[in-house]
Amino acid sequence: MDVTREFGLRNVSSHCSISEMDDYDLTKLLDKPRLNIKREKSFDERSLSELSIGLARGLDNFESSYSPGGRSGLDTPASSARNSFEPHPMVAEAWESLRRSLVHFRGQPVGTIAAYDHASEEVLNYDQVFVRDFVPSALAFLMNGEPDIVKNFLLKTLQLQGWEKRIDRFKLGEGAMPASFKVLHNSDRKTDTVVADFGESAIGRVAPVDSGFWWIILLRAYTKSTGDLTLAETPECQKGMRLILSLCLSEGFDTFPTLLCADGCSMIDRRMGIYGYPIEIQALFFMALRCSLAMLKHDAEGKEFVERIVKRLHALSYHMRSYFWIDFQQLNDIYRYKTEEYSHTAVNKFNVIPDSIPDWVFDFMPMRGGYFIGNVSPARMDFRWFALGNCIAILSSLATPEQSAAIMDLFEARWEELVGEMPLKICYPAIESHEWRIVTGCDPKNTRWSYHNGGSWPVLLWMLTAACIKTGRPQIARKAIELAESRLLKDSWPEYYDGKLGRYVGKQARKYQTWSIAGYLVAKMMLEDPSHLGMISLEEDRQMKPVLKRSSSWTC
Ligand code: GLC
Repeated sequence: MDVTREFGLRNVSSHCSISEMDDYDLTKLLDKPRLNIKREKSFDERSLSELSIGLARGLDNFESSYSPGGRSGLDTPASSARNSFEPHPMVAEAWESLRRSLVHFRGQPVGTIAAYDHASEEVLNYDQVFVRDFVPSALAFLMNGEPDIVKNFLLKTLQLQGWEKRIDRFKLGEGAMPASFKVLHNSDRKTDTVVADFGESAIGRVAPVDSGFWWIILLRAYTKSTGDLTLAETPECQKGMRLILSLCLSEGFDTFPTLLCADGCSMIDRRMGIYGYPIEIQALFFMALRCSLAMLKHDAEGKEFVERIVKRLHALSYHMRSYFWIDFQQLNDIYRYKTEEYSHTAVNKFNVIPDSIPDWVFDFMPMRGGYFIGNVSPARMDFRWFALGNCIAILSSLATPEQSAAIMDLFEARWEELVGEMPLKICYPAIESHEWRIVTGCDPKNTRWSYHNGGSWPVLLWMLTAACIKTGRPQIARKAIELAESRLLKDSWPEYYDGKLGRYVGKQARKYQTWSIAGYLVAKMMLEDPSHLGMISLEEDRQMKPVLKRSSSWTC
């Protein structure tokens, strides 16, 4: 079967040779006259099935109107009208701080630094532009009708991807995107140069697997928000996508469609026992695959990737929805698992020993609600709940509509634990004592209920808000935003909060952390105008059939 034809996504231009772009000038691409195309809302919301139907009917520009969530959909929060007339005083302050964090390269803004914290003695690498940290900044600029900085960033990081990357004597994969970069200004020579970190300087020397995925997701957000297809269609962006994809679609010894990762290769960038198949990466992987599918050209080089992506998406969604999903019923089933089963008939496929289920999860699991657990591999299920993975699962439609609703049910049922006094816990629960020693390697920054180990990260507010809007529950987002508003500015926009309820400013938290600022702005703007959601959300693909067993939260 010709998958390319079946899933034909777009018009393919015939000139598709990939030109080398070793050290091209950013401005060359930027100086092209900007096409001011009307907001294009549809091309990447089409499901695979819709696309195949569209193609069969000979429709090249399949249009579908946008509708977030399934149920109450766009019941725009009542406060939105109020907000648009009386913006919260924090909004102006936030914009000012966000603009102060801008980084320029040869006169053009290319990103935002991680934190603008003059009081802090230790700058470490917080004066750099982190790829993942820039995402909420980028969304804020896009929502505010300022796409140029996002385009500059996408091109700058694409250029960095072309660098040869080494750690000691080992050469990293071609497609790797940096965790961060820094612009060095030489005032004598009046030159700007860039240094990038692909993991070779990072604490722990881990390459960021999430950077490439965020880059693809951001390229789609830019395209979606501006309607400017020309950037994603450049041979350079097409090649950039393919390079990222070849890193994660390559065949190896894996028996699972999930992506095998080292510990600390994402937002949680230090040892936290998330090696293997962490939910955070799997959800971003899924989303990046879907975004690529909408943007890749079906030319000689792109076609093969499209076919591989389609196959992987089917296997990945099946695997995640079947084995990572947990709710009351599923937990009860695992609790009663038999072990040492051999052959295809095994129910307990990964030979998980029920005794390894931690006590806390029995109390934590509500009768109604569910979530994707942290990790699944042979004889190991990490039952911890992770915010980013679950929110991205909703936004990418990795979660079925029923699963998305169940994740939101869990938020409501476990508000104290997951939100408490400051949105949002990065993961739940914290690991302590002996387990902390073994899992984190005695990491003093990751003590219980601090930083990555159960700390509360304001940046996650934008993802929560987006998930709320998508599932038609804006009132949850409103509650969370109000909590943030009661403290963030007063506390000078900390990077994270500590404690079971997230009540204390994090022990080593930076102040004026850019993604805390931008995350707040994005949450505010989305709630005010929910149509912004489209740039960071993908509709369900009806071809990927849910494989869930009945769950208590299905009845809602
Ligand atoms: C910390 C965080 C990481 C973030 C970086 C810059 O290392 O763990 O997620 O990207 O700071 O803010």
